[in-house]
Amino acid sequence: MRVGFLGLGIMGGPMASNLVKAGHEVVVWNRTPGKQVEGARSASSPAEAAQGAEVVWMCVADTHAVEQVLFGANGVEQSLSEGMIVADSSTISPAATAKFAERVKARGARYVDAPVTGSKAGAQSGTLVFIVGGEERDIERLKPLFAAMGKKIFRMGNTGKGQAAKIAMNLQIALIYEGFAEGITLAAKLGVDPGTLVPLINATMVHSGVVEYKAPAVLNRDFTPNFPLRLMHKDIRLALEAAKEARVKLPALETVEEVYEVAAEDGDGNLDFAATLTLLEKWAGVEVKGVLV
Ligand SMILES: NC(=O)c1ccc[n+]([C@@H]2O[C@H](COP(=O)([O-])OP(=O)(O)OC[C@H]3O[C@@H](n4cnc5c(N)ncnc54)[C@H](OP(=O)(O)O)[C@@H]3O)[C@@H](O)[C@H]2O)c1
Repeated sequence: MRVGFLGLGIMGGPMASNLVKAGHEVVVWNRTPGKQVEGARSASSPAEAAQGAEVVWMCVADTHAVEQVLFGANGVEQSLSEGMIVADSSTISPAATAKFAERVKARGARYVDAPVTGSKAGAQSGTLVFIVGGEERDIERLKPLFAAMGKKIFRMGNTGKGQAAKIAMNLQIALIYEGFAEGITLAAKLGVDPGTLVPLINATMVHSGVVEYKAPAVLNRDFTPNFPLRLMHKDIRLALEAAKEARVKLPALETVEEVYEVAAEDGDGNLDFAATLTLLEKWAGVEVKGVLV
C-alpha cells in the first residue's frame, strides 16, 4: 500500500521501517529534519507525505502535535482525498480524536484511532498490540499494515474508543509501577536486598508484566527512555481530564500525578518513567540497587 508516515520518534521510526520491510511504499516526514527511514522517501511536509497516499499514519507526541500535523501549515488536510484513511497511533485525547475525525470525514476521508502498547521493543520487533477505534471496513483495509507493525488488534468500538481504552490501560501501568516502586523502596530502606525481592514478586500473585519488564533495568540503574516519563505524565493527565469530563473520581491517579509533576520539575522528563523511583529514593534516603538472584 502507499503510506505516508508522520513522526519518526522512538515508536514511529521502527514502525515505519517495518512497513518498508513488509513491502509497502512509504513516504516519511518528521518535524525535525534529519530523521530518515531506510527504503522510504522523505517528504518536507505532512501534506507532501500524504499526497497520493492510500493511508496516512501518525505517531507523534500528543494531542497538539496531531492537530498541527493534520490541520497546521502544510498539514495532511491539504492532501485529503476520498477514501484515504488517516490512522493515529499517537496516544491523545479521545474527545479531540472525535473532533479531528469529524473534520477529516467531512472531506470524504476516513479516520481510525490506533494507539499502541508494547513500547520500544514491540515497535522494533513488529509485535505491537493495536487498540483500535473506527469502522470495521476501515480496520479491514488496514490489516496488512497492522500485520507489518504488530501482532494483535483489539477493536474497542467506534472512533475515539481506541484512545479511551489506551488511556485506561496506561493509567494502570502508572499505578502498578508506582506500587512496585514504593514497595521496593520501603523494602530497601528496611534492609531487604532488591535483587532478592524481585524474584519473590515474580513468584507470587504480586507478579505483573510491568514489573517483569521494568525490574531488570531498574536494578541496573538504567533509566534510558523506552517510554519517556514526560509521555506517561501526558497520559496520566489525559486520563484525569477524561475522568473529570465523565465525572469519574480517580484518587490514586491524582496522587501519582503529583509524583510525575515533581519528577518533571526535577528535569527527569526525558528519562524512562521508571525514573519516578529515584524521587522516592531521594525522599527515603536509600538507593534501590541489586543483582537479580
Ligand atoms: N515510547 C513508548 O513506549 C510508547 C508506547 C505506546 C505509545 N506511545 C505513544 O506514541 C506516541 C509517540 O511516542 P514516542 O515514544 O515515539 O515519542 P518521541 O520519541 O518523543 O517522538 C515524538 C514524535 O512526535 C513528534 N512531534 C512532537 N511534537 C510535534 C509537533 N508539535 N508537531 C509535529 N510533530 C511533533 C516528534 O518530532 P521531533 O523529532 O521533531 O521532536 C517525534 O517524531 C506518543 O503519543 C506516546 O504516548 C509511546
